[in-house]
Amino acid sequence: MDVKIVEHPLAAARLTAMRDERSDSPRFRAALHELTMMLVYEATRDAAVAEYAIRTPVAPAKGYRLGNPPVLVPVLRAGLGMADAAQAMIPDASMGFVGLARDEETHEPYAYMESLPDDLAGRHVIVLDPMVATGGSLLRCCEMIAARGCTDIDLVSVLCAPDGIAKLAGSGIAMRMTTAAVDPELNDKAYIVPGLGDAGDRQFGAYRRF
Ligand code: PRP
Ligand code: URA
Repeated sequence: MDVKIVEHPLAAARLTAMRDERSDSPRFRAALHELTMMLVYEATRDAAVAEYAIRTPVAPAKGYRLGNPPVLVPVLRAGLGMADAAQAMIPDASMGFVGLARDEETHEPYAYMESLPDDLAGRHVIVLDPMVATGGSLLRCCEMIAARGCTDIDLVSVLCAPDGIAKLAGSGIAMRMTTAAVDPELNDKAYIVPGLGDAGDRQFGAYRRF
């Protein structure tokens, strides 16, 4: 799997704000929004473009737009905080939704929502989820997308653990990952260390130490 780590001072500052336990929910959400814009910008660097003719106030010129606008798929709940930012970067994108929650004991994902176009053949899908820990949730999401015929999947995440990347890479589903960092390990509750805690809780108002 192609893993692109976005190493940029502005991205590092947003990631730091998200990691810092003193950041309240508004600060956490703002940093996630801004960082998502940067990650989506990098994830689409090689996207196909279509050329078309425009006129400037001075002369004819070439114009460009995305050749195949993607389907954005935020993974509820935590991926919701990335949806607006990704759509702001790609206004022509459409959006589907997948709802997954990890069981606290087994760490296995439970799917409670799948709202995707029936046919994703020939479509470019960008999955948005800030955290890849064991990789079980994103793998489940990619299986849903691949089952609808998609062969062009980009994953955009804030933080990954090596276990999660290995699970996705070994799945046999072709995908690319763009992330701000890969942290060293998981703790015994399958939280990323040092990580940033529970991305859903931190956006939507709860704070827990793990
Ligand atoms: C978080 C996160 C990922 C998943 C990552 O969601 O947003 O979807 O955990 O863990 P994994 O790689 O081990 O599967 P969570 O299940 O906590 O649900 P939430 O978004 O509703 O908080
Ligand atoms: N989900 C999160 O939100 N954070 C982690 O570290 C692991 C899973």
